[in-house]
Amino acid sequence: MNFKNLIYVSAISLLLLNCSGDSDEVTPPTPTPTPATITYNNTVKNIMSGNCTSCHGTPTTNGAPVSFTTFSQVKTDVDKIITRINSTTNPMPPSGLMGQSNRDLIQKWKDDGLLEN
Ligand code: HEC
Repeated sequence: MNFKNLIYVSAISLLLLNCSGDSDEVTPPTPTPTPATITYNNTVKNIMSGNCTSCHGTPTTNGAPVSFTTFSQVKTDVDKIITRINSTTNPMPPSGLMGQSNRDLIQKWKDDGLLEN
C-alpha cells in the first residue's frame, strides 16, 4: 500500500469509527417501567421479599404472626397489609413505612383484581 492509499484508509477508518461511536455511547439505565397490570409475580412478590419476609418468612421470625411468602398468603391478608403499610401509628415494616410507590403498587394490585400472573 502506498502512502496516499494509507491516508485514505486511515481517513475512512476514522470516519467509520466516528459514526459508529453513537451506538457505543453509554446510555443511562432506564428505570424499570411499571407493568400495566400489577400481578403478584411481576411486582408484589419482590416488594414482599424486599421488605417483609425477613420477619414474615417461612418460618416467621422476630415475632411476626403470619408468613407472606406465597401468593395465597399475601392475597388472603391483602386488606390487613394495605392498612398496616399505610399506618403511621402502627407501621409495617415496624422500622418505618416503605416509599409511596411501593405502597401504591400493592393498592393497585388489589384494584387490578389480585392476579397471580
Ligand atoms: C422486623 C420484622 C418485621 C418486618 C420487616 C415486617 N413485619 Fe409485619 N409484623 C411484625 C410483627 C412482630 C407483627 C406482630 C405485631 C404487630 O401486629 O405489630 C407484625 C404484624 C403484621 C401484620 C398484622 C398481621 C395480623 O394478622 O394481625 C401485617 C398485616 C403485617 N405485619 C404486614 C407486614 C408487611 C406487609 C411488611 C412488609 C412491607 C411487614 N409486615 C414487615 C414484624 C415485621
